[in-house]
Amino acid sequence: MQTLETITAFRAARADLTGSLGLVPTMGYLHEGHLELVRRAHAECSHVAVSIFVNPTQFGPNEDLARYPRDLPRDLELLQAAGVELVFAPAVAEMYPADFGTYVEVQNVTAPLEGARRPGHFQGVATVVCKLFNIVGADRAYFGQKDAQQTVVIRQMVRDLNLPVEIVVVPTVREADGLAKSSRNVYLDPAQRAAAPVLWRALQHAAQLYEQGENDAELLRRALHQVLAQEPLAQVEYVSAADPHTLMEIEGPIRRGALLSLAVRFGATHLIDNVTLAARADSAA
Ligand code: PAF
Repeated sequence: MQTLETITAFRAARADLTGSLGLVPTMGYLHEGHLELVRRAHAECSHVAVSIFVNPTQFGPNEDLARYPRDLPRDLELLQAAGVELVFAPAVAEMYPADFGTYVEVQNVTAPLEGARRPGHFQGVATVVCKLFNIVGADRAYFGQKDAQQTVVIRQMVRDLNLPVEIVVVPTVREADGLAKSSRNVYLDPAQRAAAPVLWRALQHAAQLYEQGENDAELLRRALHQVLAQEPLAQVEYVSAADPHTLMEIEGPIRRGALLSLAVRFGATHLIDNVTLAARADSAA
């Protein structure tokens, strides 16, 4: 495995590879969810590259950039064991030199949900992902379903800017109690950690109501709220039953493929999760 810190060195190492390349973009502090992306990339591509870069432009002024967890030596050990060929781990000045002045602004799908709560977040994500695509030259790039809106934003950018990369979205990896794996889970104290599976319980409850025939989007949103309200440590930021392509809230009847998502704060820690409504056994709805 080669670890490259500059764009020039990475491009030279990439040019030596023949066959297809899969990219797993990360901010490090890797967990089983990232390793699942690496495994999927290995299954579909001749070579796998992972980027590790805590991207400052996607953090708001009151967010956790300074304290975002980092452990590069451990990340590199995990990636070596996972058979990754190339790691791109640039410094901030390599990605954003002092005279940097170009940003990628994806419209519409960045407005609701996380976008409404975190102004500028998706501009930072789109900008860095576009740069990584240009630097790495991957055939496919792998993202986790946990960050559902991020995957919609990136797909839109790839379509709009004709970027020659295929986006692959991989199912969320969960702890035994249902909590979605996330680097931010380390912020939770024991009581918050014990309470955090309420996100998954709420989603499962609403998905079950849908499975049993409930079609009304507002009622499913209310069902999400009802489960979350049972957990006193959970401060709800939003619940949503949205169109999976536009991310607009659905009013009235809901259909298969709709995205149920929620964001909940435990103290200062913001957790998100989501589920896509599957086909119902009984109907084509
Ligand atoms: O999902 C993440 O970890 C980040 O948003 C990404 C895609 C690596 C961009 O910094």
